[in-house]
Amino acid sequence: MNNRNWKRRDVLKTFGVASAGIGIAHPVIGKRTSNPELFQDPKYKNPDRPVECVVLGAGGRGNVYASYATKYPNEMKIVGVAEPIPYRREKFSEMYKIPKEHQWVTWEHALQIPKFADAMIITMPDNLHYQPAMDCLAMDYDLLLEKAIAQTWQECKDILDQTKKYDKIVAVCHVLRYTPYFRKMKEVADSGRLGDIVSIQHLEPVEHIHMSHSFVRGNWRNSNESTPMILSKSCHDTDILRWIIGKSCRKVSSFGSLKHFTKANAPEGSTPRCTDGCTHERNCIFSAIKLYKEKKEWLHHLALENYNDTTILNALKEGPYGKCVYHNDNNVVDNQVVNMEFDDQITVAFSMEAFSHYGGRRTRIFGTKGDLVGDENNMLITDFLTGKQESWEPGKAKKGSGHGGGDHGLVHDFVQAVSQQNPSLLTSTIDASMESHLIGFKAEESRLNGGEVLSIKLKS
Ligand SMILES: NC(=O)c1ccc[n+]([C@@H]2O[C@H](COP(=O)([O-])OP(=O)(O)OC[C@H]3O[C@@H](n4cnc5c(N)ncnc54)[C@H](O)[C@@H]3O)[C@@H](O)[C@H]2O)c1
Repeated sequence: MNNRNWKRRDVLKTFGVASAGIGIAHPVIGKRTSNPELFQDPKYKNPDRPVECVVLGAGGRGNVYASYATKYPNEMKIVGVAEPIPYRREKFSEMYKIPKEHQWVTWEHALQIPKFADAMIITMPDNLHYQPAMDCLAMDYDLLLEKAIAQTWQECKDILDQTKKYDKIVAVCHVLRYTPYFRKMKEVADSGRLGDIVSIQHLEPVEHIHMSHSFVRGNWRNSNESTPMILSKSCHDTDILRWIIGKSCRKVSSFGSLKHFTKANAPEGSTPRCTDGCTHERNCIFSAIKLYKEKKEWLHHLALENYNDTTILNALKEGPYGKCVYHNDNNVVDNQVVNMEFDDQITVAFSMEAFSHYGGRRTRIFGTKGDLVGDENNMLITDFLTGKQESWEPGKAKKGSGHGGGDHGLVHDFVQAVSQQNPSLLTSTIDASMESHLIGFKAEESRLNGGEVLSIKLKS
């Protein structure tokens, strides 16, 4: 790995050991990863040196993934950053001791010098995934790529083709796959304990304030700027369902609408911004003043270096988060149902719902020998023959990092995959993530066509 032009996978191939997954460059073969909390599997090995990564977009996700390097410095090192917001770039650079010459304003700058790290972490807004991914791959970087992969199906296919062309590793940030909770669900489904899976009911309650923040006022409010809700929010769900079932989805049909957050529902006399003297503001569930200024919640996306009443109020007066939820340019749905038919007549009913006071996915798997009921905190598995029940909780492991431990679980596997040059150490490779994205694109097409039943053909 010291010679940047000599790829580790080439070395492995040359010595004919790639398929065995043996890292000849690892002096510690057989030793487990230094991350002992979640993973105790001999296929994980201590890297001989930290995998060097550059973060493109040091916002919420960029910081979460980079924080793995703080916790496990012998596994991962952050060696560059591109971030246009100065205080974010500066804080990030300081935190990871990034030299001045590797601090950039925008992602293009990071690609103007020859390859100098192992991987790029693409955590920029959805409309900045496609071109950066294509260019990074062409420069021989492995990628940790945030979902949605890209804004259109064609772009997703282009990135997959580029991945193959340059023979690179691309991990899509389907973090739920890496949570102890969903790993357990997958293990139960694969074990045969439930018999054959007949159907699944899956609910994604977004929680009404989260909806207003991210999908009415925030970055994911308009599908032209990001992606439709079924991709921006629910590609995690189509992905987890496809993964748990382990079979292909063949047909999809969807209904849904933007029912509530529209101008038609604006109360008489409401103003474009909560700060404009709206007479309903004190009684409004979605008051920006109450949420951001008084409760000081959801402040990260306001991009303020210092949070205080004055800076927050100014941001509400000028920025997107002060806008009335009924007077906006949002177009993504606040409710959507998707019916899916998988191979072997397995049916799935999925619901995305904005109007709940709780978040956290609810899943019910119905099998011929048993069923499973889960809410991300607890999983109840019932055996029909014996009547025995197992109640399972992710417990401490869940708290390992955000998304129920999935954020660092993903980075752990990514670091292992890059270090060993073995994509099979990841479950959410781009190849494995394509079908769930296609389900999303087709579901949206169906919704826009009144629920038309559409076929899913991955190769099309
Ligand atoms: N996997 C998940 O569970 C999950 C959760 C939330 C968001 N996401 C996805 O992660 C991505 C980032 O979301 P976020 O919540 O971190 O957003 P964010 O706004 O907090 O971070 C994005 C960062 O990219 C920066 N940026 C914008 N233009 C740039 C450019 N030209 N060059 C370099 N940086 C640039 C922004 O200034 C910002 O700091 C999005 O694609 C989003 O859909 C995934």
